[in-house]
Amino acid sequence: MKRHLLSAADLDRDDALLVLDTAAELAALTDRAVKKLPTLRGRTVVNLFFEDSTRTRISFEAAAKRLSADVINFSAKGSSVSKGESLKDTALTLEAMGADAVVIRHGASGAPHRLAHSGWIGGSVVNAGDGTHEHPTQALLDAFTMRRHLAGSVGDLAGRRVTIVGDVLHSRVARSNVLLLATLGAEVTLVAPPTLLPVGVESWPCATSYDLDAHLRDADAVMMLRVQRERMNAAFFPSAREYSRRYGLDGRRMALLPDHAIVMHPGPMNRGMEIAAEVADAPRSVIVEQVSNGVSVRMAVLYLLLGGAQLGAGETDPAAEA
Ligand code: NCD
Repeated sequence: MKRHLLSAADLDRDDALLVLDTAAELAALTDRAVKKLPTLRGRTVVNLFFEDSTRTRISFEAAAKRLSADVINFSAKGSSVSKGESLKDTALTLEAMGADAVVIRHGASGAPHRLAHSGWIGGSVVNAGDGTHEHPTQALLDAFTMRRHLAGSVGDLAGRRVTIVGDVLHSRVARSNVLLLATLGAEVTLVAPPTLLPVGVESWPCATSYDLDAHLRDADAVMMLRVQRERMNAAFFPSAREYSRRYGLDGRRMALLPDHAIVMHPGPMNRGMEIAAEVADAPRSVIVEQVSNGVSVRMAVLYLLLGGAQLGAGETDPAAEA
């Protein structure tokens, strides 16, 4: 593993499988009454959030706490950032407090890269979503979820078909998923209106289409993306109604999926827009499970980047006690 996790492309196949296998091990360890492991005792993880977040922020916090790290949560609202403090001065402050890892979410694409390669801080940097660029831990938790449902006992996603639908243009989730799934050998098709596909998408390791119905019958997983209105400065489609008619996943479209196929969404959802409520709440929807898997995957990332003590170390072995 590299020292930082900035892009899904930082992970080769072995690294990605190591994170996913470690996450599975951690999920099993914490799937019991006492969820805490002593692995990162004495280490400090700072969550630096310049952009709104529910799932990602809470999940990184839960992950660090379950590994017994000290956690400092920093959100730009209510901090000196609103007084105009720069990323550099914020970083120097964190460094002075002895952060071993900084988890950063920022509205500007490239902010985590700047933080990692500026020399301002000595610890590891984890990208928790930067602008419209990348969100590598989301891709990891998505792959973890797909592996649980689709990969069989060998845990291999090679050849699995994943259809990613919607606002690809503004989605850091889509880019990170395409990169990671390609590394793992899955076949990805991006489905979106032409206005919501980024320039240069031809060079991404995936196929593209404008026709959703054509890519449901053979999909193993369909991932719906949120329409990111807050990043839209123009009209990208005629109306919300027209968008959901062409690109929304409703009950009729869900019925086209093979029986084993799962429905995913990174959240937050616009119910009734990209996904109908009956689909979001259907038995094949794994949206809530994605959130819990996020904790295990982020535990694995922090554990591997910070080189924690051996898994299970410091715990009493009930067999030895008897
Ligand atoms: C995504 C994000 O913030 O990039 N959400 C998440 O992390 N779970 C997707 C989104 O905002 O639509």
